[in-house]
Order: sequence, then C-alpha cells, then structure tokens
Amino acid sequence: MGSELYLPVRVGASPWTCGRCKVSVLILGATSPIARAIAGVYAEEGHAVYLAARDVAEAERIAADLKVRFGVRTGFGAFDATNLDAHAALVEQVESELGAIEVALVAFGDMGEQEESETDPSAARRVIDINYTGSVSVSELVAQKMIERSSGTIIGLSSVAGDRGRQSNYIYGSAKGAFALYLQGLRNRCFRSGVHVLTVKLGFVDTRMTYGMETAIPVADPADAALAIKRAASRGENEMYYPRFWRGIMGVIKVMPEALFKRLNL
Ligand SMILES: NC(=O)c1ccc[n+]([C@@H]2O[C@H](COP(=O)([O-])OP(=O)(O)OC[C@H]3O[C@@H](n4cnc5c(N)ncnc54)[C@H](OP(=O)(O)O)[C@@H]3O)[C@@H](O)[C@H]2O)c1
Repeated sequence: MGSELYLPVRVGASPWTCGRCKVSVLILGATSPIARAIAGVYAEEGHAVYLAARDVAEAERIAADLKVRFGVRTGFGAFDATNLDAHAALVEQVESELGAIEVALVAFGDMGEQEESETDPSAARRVIDINYTGSVSVSELVAQKMIERSSGTIIGLSSVAGDRGRQSNYIYGSAKGAFALYLQGLRNRCFRSGVHVLTVKLGFVDTRMTYGMETAIPVADPADAALAIKRAASRGENEMYYPRFWRGIMGVIKVMPEALFKRLNL
C-alpha cells in the first residue's frame, strides 16, 4: 500500500474501521456499482480491498484502478455464488493474500425474471441459489473466521422486496427475505464474539438491476448508497434501509392486512 505501513489490526468488539486502522475488506460481487463504490470508500481510507466477481477481468480492472487512485493493497479473484464448493478456497486465498478479513460485503444478487420463474422451476431455483444459498454459504465461512478472531463486520445487501411477498417479484423477494432473516440470526450468533452484522435493505438504486424500470419513487445513486452503508457499518447499526424513506414505505406495506394486500396489483 504505497509508503504506508500495512497492519492487519484487530478491532476487537468494535464493529468499525477507522482511518488509522488499516484492515482487509472482501467485496463479493465486485462488479455491482454499489459494491464497487463501497470498495472505493474503503480504499480511500487506506484499507486493503479484495475484489471477487464472476467477471475476473473486470475485478482485475477495479483492483488496478483502486491501487492507482488510493495506493492500497488490492487483490482480485473469481467468485460464483452458485459454485459452493469453491467458496472456502476463495476465503483462504483472500486471507493468504491480504491477511485477516475484517470487513466482508455480500453484494452479489440476481433478480431474475419473475414470469420465467413461474414457468421454469430451474429459473426459480437459480434465483434462490444465488440470492440465498450462495449468500449463506460464503457468509458462514467468513463468519467462522471472524468469530475465531472475535473481530469483523459482515455487510449483507438485502432488499425491501424481502419485507413482503408481492406477485411481481416474490421468488427474488423470498430469497432476499430469507437472507435478511439469516443475517438476523447470524448477528445474534456473532454478538458475543464482537463480530458485527449489518443488514442493508435497499430500495431502488441506479444499477443494471433497475435499468429501464419506470417508477415514481426516486432512484438512489450508488455512490450515495455506498457512503451511507459504510457509515452505518462504522456506527455498528444492525439494519438499515436505503434510501432511508423506504423504512416508512415498508412500514406501511408490512402492516396492511393480508385480506386487503392480496387484492392489490403490486
Ligand atoms: N439496484 C437496486 O435497486 C437494488 C434493490 C434491492 C437490492 N439490491 C441488491 O443490491 C445488490 C447489488 O446489486 P446491483 O443493484 O448493483 O445490481 P447489479 O449491477 O446487477 O449487480 C449484481 C452483482 O451480482 C453479481 N452476480 C450475479 N449473479 C452472480 C453469481 N452467480 N455469482 C457471483 N456474482 C453474481 C453480478 O455479477 P456479474 O457482473 O458477473 O453479472 C453483479 O456484480 C444485489 O444483492 C441486489 O439484489 C439492489
């Protein structure tokens, strides 16, 4: 990391990273604009960043860019959420290259096509495998490392779609909702060892996932989302909505009686 001394620092029960303590950050799903922006926020503070993605060439480009701009140590490697057998080796690889993972961002996701999922069980399964099974698999491996060291933060990107099942996206929504429930349990498990888990429930953010979507609700900028997520992780927040107004929207949606809700075309 340039002229700066790199030290993998234990932050013990503190779930945050600061400007002075340089730690290692694992970004899973690094080609997501939100993930990429979060990687940039950590790199700007001087932290080492490992970019894991299906598109290894793009992960390498992001790593090179961060190295040039911020002078930090970077690494990159292949990660496919559905290739469960490769997850453990990736985690070992990251730790051997950059040291103990202090922050892990589980950012990958795939909304799939709801209509396709309704007619093709393998499409539905794929959405669940990526958004739930893959997320749990890699989170468990990272969590175990962190628990052994009594230090670390896991940030999971879930979705407001997981707060209530809607006909337009309930396959993806159910996988994201299950991931949020998983993160809640993981947070409970990790609490006594000083490992922190942040659940991020995203509303609309301007990425490939929302490209071409028509909505009256404002769509957030990935860079703004990244800053808010980093801040929430540093403060040790347990769960956040972003944009924040989604907490209010989902508060209303969640309390609607099912007898009424099932009649709505949502
Ligand atoms: N944008 C929103 O409005 C919104 C709302 C709610 C939640 N989210 C969540 O936010 C996270 C980031 O999504 P985004 O909005 O940035 O969308 P995006 O641009 O489509 O990024 C999705 C990321 O997931 C990766 N991915 C997909 N399938 C994968 C697999 N099998 N293995 C490994 N990586 C895989 C993609 O890699 P490739 O580049 O290889 O495709 C890409 O890096 C996701 O978890 C998403 O569910 C987004």
